[in-house]
Amino acid sequence: MRTFDSKDEYMNANFSLKEVHSKKVQKHSKNLAKSLDLNQKDILLAETIGLLHDIGRFYQFFTYKTYKDTISVNHAACSARILQNAQFFHDLPNNFFHQLMVATYYHNVFLLPSQLASEDLFFCKIIRDADKMDIFRVIIENPGGVIRTDKGPFVWSTEIWSALEQGKCCLYSDVKSEADRTLLQLSWIYDISFPYTYNYLYSSGVFQEFVNVIPQTVREMEPIQKALNFVKKKSEAFSSLKQ
Ligand SMILES: [Fe+2]
Repeated sequence: MRTFDSKDEYMNANFSLKEVHSKKVQKHSKNLAKSLDLNQKDILLAETIGLLHDIGRFYQFFTYKTYKDTISVNHAACSARILQNAQFFHDLPNNFFHQLMVATYYHNVFLLPSQLASEDLFFCKIIRDADKMDIFRVIIENPGGVIRTDKGPFVWSTEIWSALEQGKCCLYSDVKSEADRTLLQLSWIYDISFPYTYNYLYSSGVFQEFVNVIPQTVREMEPIQKALNFVKKKSEAFSSLKQ
C-alpha cells in the first residue's frame, strides 16, 4: 500500500478508501468466521482473504484512475493475479494458498460457479458476506463515488424494480441511472449467505442508513419495505438462534 503513496491528494484519498475497506473486511471476515465456530487456521484464512481480496484495486486505480471494472480491469482477477505472482503466498501451508486464490478471484461474480468444491465455496461465501458488511458504509461515507446526490429526480428502470419486487439481485446490465445503481446496491441483501451478516447489517444500523439515501416517497414503497423487513427478519432469526 505504502508504495502507492503519491503526492497527488486525489490518488491518496482513493488508495486510503480501499486500505480502510480492506482492513474492515478483514475484521468482518474474522468475526464472521468466529461466529461460525471455525478453527484457528480457518479463521486466519478468512481474515487473510478479507485483507487481500481487493489488493488489485490499488493497481487498478494507479493505472486507470478509476474503480469501475467495466472501463478498466476486473479487479478480482487482478487481485488473484497479484497474489499468484507473489512468491511469498506459494509458501503458505496446505490449501491456504488455493483457497485464498479462489475466494479472491470469485468474490465479485454475480453467481458463484456451481462446480466449486464445497470448502472453496464456503470461503467464497465468507468473503462475499464480509465485503457486503462494509460496502454499505463505503457508499454512505463516500458520496463522491457512487451514491446519488438527491439533486435530480429518482428515476428507475422497470427491470431493476421488478428484480426488487421478486426479492432478487439486480443485474448491472439493467442499470441506466443513479437511482438504478442505488437500487442495485440495495438488492445485494438478497445475496447474503450467513445470518450473522444480516444481524450485523441490521443491528449496526448501516443498512437502514443506506436505505435513508432513497427519497422518502420511494422508500415507503413495497419493494424497499420488503428489503428492510427481509433484513430485519433474518437478523431476528440469528438473534433467536443465539439465545
Ligand atoms: Fe472487491
